[in-house]
Parts: sequence; structure tokens; C-alpha cells
Amino acid sequence: MLATVESATVIGIDACRVHVEIDISFGLPHFQLVGLPDASVRESRDRVRAAIRNSGYEFPAHRITINLAPGDVRKAGPGFDLPMALGMLAATGVIQASALAGIVHVGELSLDGSIQPARGVLAIAAEARRSGARALLLPFENFAEAAVVSGLRLLPVRTLSEAVSRMNQSPADWPVLPTSSTPGTPGTLDLDLSDLHGQAFARRALEVAAAGGHNLLMIGPPGAGKTMLARRLPGILPPLSFDEAIEATTIHSVAGQLRTGGGLLTDRPFRAPHHTISDVALVGGGATPRPGEVSLAHHGVLFLDEMPEFDRRVLEALRQPIEEGRITVSRALQSVVFPARFVLVAAMNPCPCGYLGDPKRACKCTPPQIARYRGRLSGPLRDRLDLIVEVEAVPITALTEGPAGESSAAVRERVLAARACQLARRGHARVNAQLSGTELKKHAPLNVAGRRLLERSADKLQLSARGFHRIIRVARTIADLAGAEAIATEHLMEALQYRFVESMT
Ligand SMILES: Nc1ncnc2c1ncn2[C@@H]1O[C@H](COP(=O)(O)OP(=O)(O)OP(=O)(O)O)[C@@H](O)[C@H]1O
Ligand SMILES: [Mg+2]
Ligand SMILES: [Zn+2]
Repeated sequence: MLATVESATVIGIDACRVHVEIDISFGLPHFQLVGLPDASVRESRDRVRAAIRNSGYEFPAHRITINLAPGDVRKAGPGFDLPMALGMLAATGVIQASALAGIVHVGELSLDGSIQPARGVLAIAAEARRSGARALLLPFENFAEAAVVSGLRLLPVRTLSEAVSRMNQSPADWPVLPTSSTPGTPGTLDLDLSDLHGQAFARRALEVAAAGGHNLLMIGPPGAGKTMLARRLPGILPPLSFDEAIEATTIHSVAGQLRTGGGLLTDRPFRAPHHTISDVALVGGGATPRPGEVSLAHHGVLFLDEMPEFDRRVLEALRQPIEEGRITVSRALQSVVFPARFVLVAAMNPCPCGYLGDPKRACKCTPPQIARYRGRLSGPLRDRLDLIVEVEAVPITALTEGPAGESSAAVRERVLAARACQLARRGHARVNAQLSGTELKKHAPLNVAGRRLLERSADKLQLSARGFHRIIRVARTIADLAGAEAIATEHLMEALQYRFVESMT
């Protein structure tokens, strides 16, 4: 007896169809699994056997061979449990084999027959619709994320026996469930810029970062409000578009980071990995590569607090994603590309003890210690930080008596207007931070006075060619925030201020 059941696996963030072929023949009881299964799939045998028995069905005491095709695709994860069990029940006549045709099945079984949520269901649902599947049988908990894909019949189930009764039902009797292909309303971001007193300069830098997608480094003593500022960046970025939300949700789903029962992400991601993070956890990896923090931050913000404390190798690994907006993860058997376009916000103290330049507390660090601390950030990475600002602690009186700051909603209005200027000028959604040298010449020309100013500053700030371009990009954003067609001297002057700290470090 032979049965074939359709399923899918996820490679990178894309789903790939897998045919689960089950053959049951007479012979000594034996259960064999072939077709490039990884260790987690090989464990399926025990779960499937227990789940079938504990759901009240008979487990065939024959020779069972399961093949996962195509053979050259590496199969990972427990998502094949359910298709295997259903195929076996079809081979033994509990389900009509024809009932399974054209339906994609995915789900992990517990020993008692209940079905556990799976990773990557959004990608699998999208693939099922693309390939014209009749329906997707999926874990109940993954319903909300799959429901984002419209035009696909969804059959969420909690247990193996529920799956069996669905398959024995006429499709006319299947429940019709609502799909929801619109992102929910954002606004769960309850961190508002109005909580922040003072810090006019840093707030302005945050606004420029949001408007042009520029990476930002904040240098300041403990308690100055660096973390507070960084956490408020997602709230002033434009709302996620539908396509961005799909991409971000797919990544979170594949990484197993989607909230249980969660659907489409509504807010821009904010990821703040600790400085002890490994390079694999940051950029992604593993035997069957999973997305790392840089990809979980896709379309959002990656915040690296205490940046000099990160391992040098970890920081180096950030170069490709910052440059290209994606990361290639290579393993012996496969190489995958994950999207990773984010705004980087980094924070550091001015010195190891944190109090260098503080009017009230004395710094205890020696000059070599300070040099070593700052040196950890030198080189190519620092070259990719468009904005560098000093953040000084706000006096206590200003915290209690000073006026509250402007709200995030008000700042976001200006950011949206500046983004609209960028879109109108170029006709594509890439922000100023991503402009190439040639694009800069075209879209951000300087007048004579501007060129003079930059040339004069170049010596003082020891500007490299890259630093030169960076200043023009930032000036372009500042001009966009001002609604100005051309870059004026005042825009360049402000852009230069965001490099000034660097010349002192
Ligand atoms: N400008 C400010 N307005 C309002 N509250 C502030 C401000 N600056 C600091 N605070 C208060 O101080 C706390 C510490 O701020 P935050 O954690 O952002 O500092 P930090 O610069 O990240 O410090 P560290 O270097 O220790 O990480 C905040 O939770 C907030 O209560
Ligand atoms: Mg902090
Ligand atoms: Zn110090």
C-alpha cells in the first residue's frame, strides 16, 4: 500500500514543497525514514507511533518505509509528523487516500496526539496558495499567521483525531474561516518621545536618522537617556507597509519568534541583543540556517547598547547586512540569504568608567584605557555610522520641572514628509542612507559655497572619501526635513556637527 501526502519545509525564509511517500508492506515490523531527514525529522518515528496509538488508532505492525521527496532538499524540523501520521492512516484505510490529495499538511505531534505549532507557517501558506493547493491543514495556533494569505482554504486542527475527521469530511462541510490580510493598527508602542526631557540635539539626530534611514551612534555617560532615545526610534518611523509586514512576519515565523497565536506584525521590530551575543545568533546560522537578530530587525531597528563590549568578530559580521541589507549564511549543505535591512542605533560610554567629561563625577580611566576602549570601534564599522552624537546627562531639575518633550506623533509627521520627498525625487523607496556615490551626484549636488565648506572641513575632520559622502547623505536628509529642493550651507553645517565628536575620539 502506498500513500502520498503533501507537506512543505522552509529553506531560508522560503517554503519548498515536500512529498511524503508512505509505503506499508508485509514483513517484519520495521520503520524506516529516507530522503535526507535531519536528526529532528528522524525523531518523528517515535512521536508518530505514540501519537497514532494514543489517539486510538492501530499502528501497522508491518514494514513501513517513508520517503521524503525531493531527495536533494534537506528536511528539518518536526513539521512532517502530521503528514506522516495521516499517510499511514490512509495506507491502513482509516482515511480515504483521495481525501488527502491536493492538501498541504504541516504540524508537529505530541505523544498524546495533540498538535504543536510549527515554524514558518506563513511562508508555507504563501507557497500552498502559489502552487494552487486545495487547502492547508495546520496547527490551530498558527491560524492567525496563515490567515494573512488570502484565497487559501485553512483547516486549523488541535489533535490528530480532529485532523482525521476533517479529512473524512466532505470539503463542502469544512468551516469557512475569516482571513485577515490587512495589518492591524499599530500603536502598541507605548514609548513616546514626550517622556524625554531636554536632549534637543540627540532628539534631532534621532529624527534625522528616522527620516533618512541613517545609522546613529550615541556617546554619553550612564543614565543620560541613550537607551530611552533608542527605544523611541520605531515610534517615529513610518508605519509598516503591508509588504514589509509580510516580510518581517515571515522572518519572525521562521525563527520561531512569533507570539503564540500572533498574526501579521503591526509595529516595526526593535531588537536589542546583549553584548555577549555570538556571531551566529546575531547574523543567523545553524545546521539548518535560522535568521539571526539582524534579520529579526529587518524593516526595524537594531540597537547595540555598550557597543565596544561586543566581540570584535560579532561587529565585523555586521558589515554585510549594513552594506547590502541582507546576510548570506553558508553551511556545508546549503547557503541561504536572509533579508536584513535595519536602522542601526549604537550606544557607548565616553570611556570605560563612563564619566569622562562629566561635570560632577571624576573619570578614573587612564588615557591608554580610553584609547583602547574607543579603538574597538574603529575601522570599517565606524565608517558606516552616519550620525555620531554626544548625549549629556540632563540635570535633575530639568527632569522634574522642565517642559515635556514633543510627542512621537508630531516628529513622525515630519519624518513622513521627508520620506515623501525622497520617494518623489527618485521614484523608489530607498532612503537617503542607501544612496550610492553616483546617485548622490544626481540627487544631492552641492553649490560652490557648499563644496568650499566641505573642503575646508575635510582637513579638520580628517574626512575619508566615504566620510565625505556620508556627510552629503545626511545633508540631503536635513534638506528633505526642511522641505528644501537643494542642499544649502546650513544643511551641510548641521550634517558636519554629527561628525564633530568623531574628530575628538
Ligand atoms: N532626558 C531624560 N528625560 C527623562 N528621563 C530621563 C532622561 N534621561 C534619563 N532619564 C531617566 O534615566 C533613566 C536611565 O536612562 P537610560 O537607561 O536611557 O540611560 P542610558 O544613557 O542608556 O544609560 P546607560 O549608559 O547606563 O545604559 C531612564 O529610565 C529615565 O527614567
Ligand atoms: Mg542604556
Ligand atoms: Zn572614565
